[in-house]
Amino acid sequence: MPNLLITGANRGIGLEFVRQYIELGWRVFACCRNPDQATLLKQIASMHANSLSLHELDVSDFEQIDRLSTKLANQNIDLLLNNAAVFLDTHANSLGRTDYEAWMYCLRVNSMAPLKMTEAFVNQVRRSTQKKIINITSKMGSIADNSSGGYYLYRSSKTALNMVTRNLSIDLTPHGIMTATLHPGWVQTDMGGPDAPITAESSVAGMRRVITQLTPADSGKFYAYNGKEIAW
Ligand SMILES: NC(=O)c1ccc[n+]([C@@H]2O[C@H](COP(=O)([O-])OP(=O)(O)OC[C@H]3O[C@@H](n4cnc5c(N)ncnc54)[C@H](OP(=O)(O)O)[C@@H]3O)[C@@H](O)[C@H]2O)c1
Repeated sequence: MPNLLITGANRGIGLEFVRQYIELGWRVFACCRNPDQATLLKQIASMHANSLSLHELDVSDFEQIDRLSTKLANQNIDLLLNNAAVFLDTHANSLGRTDYEAWMYCLRVNSMAPLKMTEAFVNQVRRSTQKKIINITSKMGSIADNSSGGYYLYRSSKTALNMVTRNLSIDLTPHGIMTATLHPGWVQTDMGGPDAPITAESSVAGMRRVITQLTPADSGKFYAYNGKEIAW
């Protein structure tokens, strides 16, 4: 059975990934900041004790990432899914009022932590059968698509993540590891809000399809949940 390691697994898109991969028979290492309070995740775990384990992980704490990697040193990770992220832009356009502390934190969680996770778990991925590292990004990080401005913190953090992913695809190809950066669409979650047109269920089903069909030739590309490639 393949193994998935995912961050931000307690709600939203992360929780839905856990649900769907468990249904498919995968073994899932689900990371979240507060496992004790992760009621929905614990419910799934109570029904799938052999295939789902919960792990405390705040991705902004890089020492905690290293400790988790040591704890899971003997596991093979077929799919590392860097999903956790924050959206800290309090106004659509905060030009003139930029919160630089919030921006630093946003870059740490959204751009740096996925690279740190990759560095910490690359050996477990390299030893696996499927060898995939997927970073959940956003179309808001596409420079080509940006015609509306604003949202400096989130946009720049996802643009940086896209470059990290592209770089990883080059550096990890010799190790047989594939990477991609995926846009989930505008999805009904705490981040996406209730007006979003796409359910977490259909977004994740689409992203799973893209992940399954990923070949070495696709590595380092930027895809939407429906399989369409997005311009950088
Ligand atoms: N929803 C959309 O429309 C949309 C669109 C484009 C891209 N995305 C991307 O899709 C991914 C999932 O988003 P979502 O909509 O599911 O967001 P969400 O509902 O806000 O959930 C975010 C998840 O990230 C976790 N998280 C935040 N900071 C963390 C930290 N420091 N350490 C560990 N976990 C942390 C949260 O944990 P806590 O519960 O502990 O806060 C939560 O599990 C993100 O990468 C997001 O940027 C979403």
